Amino acid sequence: MPRATVARINRDALRHNYLKAAALAGGAQAMAVVKADGYGHGIRDVVRGLKDVAPKFAVACIEEAVAIREAGVSTPVALLQGPHSEEDLVTSTRENFEPVIHSEHQLQWLRDAKSVPRLWIKVNTGMNRLGFAPDRLADVMAFLSAAGLQQKVTGFVTHFACADDAQSDNTARQTECFGRAVEPWPDLARSVANSAAHFREGQALFDWTRPGIMLYGGSPMIGQLGPDLGLRSVMTLEAELISVRTVKAGESVGYGGSWTAPTPTTMGIVAIGYGDGYPRHAGTDTPAWVNGRRIRLIGRVSMDMLAVDLSEAPTSRPGDRVELWGPHVSVDDLARPADTIGYELLTGVTARVPRVHE
Ligand SMILES: Cc1ncc(COP(=O)(O)O)c(C=O)c1O
Repeated sequence: MPRATVARINRDALRHNYLKAAALAGGAQAMAVVKADGYGHGIRDVVRGLKDVAPKFAVACIEEAVAIREAGVSTPVALLQGPHSEEDLVTSTRENFEPVIHSEHQLQWLRDAKSVPRLWIKVNTGMNRLGFAPDRLADVMAFLSAAGLQQKVTGFVTHFACADDAQSDNTARQTECFGRAVEPWPDLARSVANSAAHFREGQALFDWTRPGIMLYGGSPMIGQLGPDLGLRSVMTLEAELISVRTVKAGESVGYGGSWTAPTPTTMGIVAIGYGDGYPRHAGTDTPAWVNGRRIRLIGRVSMDMLAVDLSEAPTSRPGDRVELWGPHVSVDDLARPADTIGYELLTGVTARVPRVHE
């Protein structure tokens, strides 16, 4: 029998979250961001689950876009990192991928390529990762025009650096900078919004939004959990209790003996560890859930196992299922004790853990 360690993927929750993003997008359309294997959920099933509601998908690179076609889904796909070679432009034309052009060297590929797909142009409004400076846009558009490619441009994109921080005014500055930069081309589409931007009061969302983490139920906002924002957890990471016993007062548990029982304690061993993508930095007191009770981790996470204090659920038995994150323990709840973010936890679940789409 296979090990019961599994990531259950809830199709209804995924759909609920996409429809929530689409509703928040108002007059804009929402392209579903499914990069990094659908944020760790399995891109094939994610795109199959959303194909009748999402008018466009977005991924980082061409391999991920090809995986969408291999899943039998023909929806247009934006390539957020753009082409990595001239050849990618030819593939994109054939497969209806829409690369984001962000750098000068890609303009040369566009001029020389055998075929050119529909394109987005990225504007650097302050993230300083990718994109053309606002004052370069006129030259870029003139270059494309001279190459007979202006009609290939679908629109402009930019990306926010601090949209998750409700206190920061950086997003307003980036939005303003973007609006001004693309003003000369009012007929082209505009896209700025990651998940967080959907939740910001008064934020302009333009023509296309690009929700990612919110589709999977993770919170895009600092200090808020997914459920606070009306999102449903899509992945339940679950494993089995494989041992239950009592440790005596003064006995320690696990590598380094980092936790010592203050009193006799009923504890369990759960068959999941950092080899499955459960974060090693989740220490004592990190929450988990078993038999309708919130419990806590004790000691250090090992490669294949971790220990839990079962004082709150003392009737638990080997074979019982423990939720590491999911509807009862938000992945965002875990992010702080593990010194990380929900994005990293979801995308970090390793290939050893089967994804079961239900
Ligand atoms: C360019 C771009 N747009 C949209 C997204 C989606 O962001 P989020 O998952 O925060 O919604 C990302 C993710 O990193 C991105 O890189």
